[in-house]
Amino acid sequence: MHVHAYEKIWLALAVILILLLIGSVTYGAVGPGVAMVSDQQDTLDPEALDEDDRFAEPRVEQVGENEYAAYVVAYQFDFDPDPIVVPENSRVTFYVTSPDVIHGFEVVGTNANTMVIPGEVAEITVEANEPREYGIVCNEYCGAAHHAMEGKLEVVPQAEYDRMTEENDEATMSDEASMNDESDDGGDA
Ligand code: CUA
Repeated sequence: MHVHAYEKIWLALAVILILLLIGSVTYGAVGPGVAMVSDQQDTLDPEALDEDDRFAEPRVEQVGENEYAAYVVAYQFDFDPDPIVVPENSRVTFYVTSPDVIHGFEVVGTNANTMVIPGEVAEITVEANEPREYGIVCNEYCGAAHHAMEGKLEVVPQAEYDRMTEENDEATMSDEASMNDESDDGGDA
């Protein structure tokens, strides 16, 4: 059978295209430097968050001069802690996890927006410069009260933040002290 020269060229081009396609799919799956999103994520047991050092007590912790870490639990249907309070001019890294279903964590007005998956820790950093308040919303449908699931990020002046953390420390100390001495200054809380 005689095959026309043009026919042969088109056939060859088609074969090359198919090989390129197979090559790109293979590279996308197993090529060097290609990793699935959660490959390097910490995993944890969503049913045992109360035994995890980071999430047993959701909180904000100072980790550097102007750096803070916020350990946040997103659950049906709220965020803990709420509000999340940090001082102005700080860099806040949120570590967010969920004990139940998939939630969202969006700090409205910033580009911080992540999915929160049970068993995984979402990590996202926000620069908190001026004192102001940001809303936090869940933007993954998570159940009947999804629309009411919201929180707050409060960026407060440094002096106010210092006063608040001092009061917290005093409250903790006076709780301990009041075990043996009722006359101890219990603060004005
Ligand atoms: Cu949580 Cu929607």
